[in-house]
Amino acid sequence: MPKGIQRITALPHPDLLDLWKSIVVDEDIKSRLLSQAVVSFTVRPKVSRTVLPMHGAILLVGAPGTGKTSLAKGLANELARLMTQTKFTLLQVDPHALASSMMGKTQKAVSDLFGQTVAEAALKGPTIVLLDEVETLAADRSKLSLEANPVDVHRATDAVLVQLDALAEAHQNILFIATSNFPQAVDAAFTSRCDLVLEVPLPNLKACEQILTDCLVGLGKTFTGIEQLPQSHGYAALIKEVHGLDGRAIRKVVANALTSRREVALKPQLLSLEDIRTAAKLAKAARVKEKQ
Ligand SMILES: Nc1ncnc2c1ncn2[C@@H]1O[C@H](COP(=O)(O)OP(=O)(O)OP(=O)(O)O)[C@@H](O)[C@H]1O
Ligand SMILES: [Mg+2]
Repeated sequence: MPKGIQRITALPHPDLLDLWKSIVVDEDIKSRLLSQAVVSFTVRPKVSRTVLPMHGAILLVGAPGTGKTSLAKGLANELARLMTQTKFTLLQVDPHALASSMMGKTQKAVSDLFGQTVAEAALKGPTIVLLDEVETLAADRSKLSLEANPVDVHRATDAVLVQLDALAEAHQNILFIATSNFPQAVDAAFTSRCDLVLEVPLPNLKACEQILTDCLVGLGKTFTGIEQLPQSHGYAALIKEVHGLDGRAIRKVVANALTSRREVALKPQLLSLEDIRTAAKLAKAARVKEKQ
């Protein structure tokens, strides 16, 4: 595996379809993402950059656990499912592997990754590059103090921008999908190059219900009975308890509820709404504490 690449996947892939489906967000968000991805391959290669300055980059921002990484991977797969004539490859970049501890090496690693690995992949065919947690690669240079942060980080951001421009110029068959849960930390020059910056929100009440129900129905496939919980009295009130949590936290509430009583841990079928309510209250309280 080339340095800085975590995984290479030929698309479409069934696991990624499940991932896309598992994320409950407004249909509008999914549809805008998909349209933008499609346009990157239908319009961008045919129109001069002086007319439409497209870079072939999408940035997903939002709180931790809102489904950004899942949506990013799922989007790549949806694109491949829609444009069946095209053979897409997904490259997942591991930004932490690039941020080398050796001074001066990060910039080279970034340049090699984009200038060689990504460029070579693009020569073979349409390529989607996942830049997860992009703030580690394209850190906001204006916020980095030279004292606290090695010059290396500045240079890495510069290298990302230079390479992004060069790739956009030379290859029209690359789409970058970046994610960040810390958009203030992403360099403005990177954000400005993105064709679409989309915020993935915390789930609304309806989405909370869908996530919780999906989780319980899923568990019910193994532990019969749990899938009936959404029909029981008090479920609507429970939804209000988890409202305000992100999707990951909602699923974790269920996982924690399974550990709330010894009997339930031994026999998960005994899980009750009360167990989930207790776990939800704890999760909410922890959240409030974190914010203080
Ligand atoms: N809107 C949602 N609907 C259903 N499940 C969700 C949703 N958001 C998050 N999840 C669940 O939470 C888990 C984490 O999602 P994911 O890793 O995609 O989030 P993320 O936004 O990338 O988080 P981070 O910012 O911490 O990297 C997934 O397993 C997913 O099932
Ligand atoms: Mg993520």
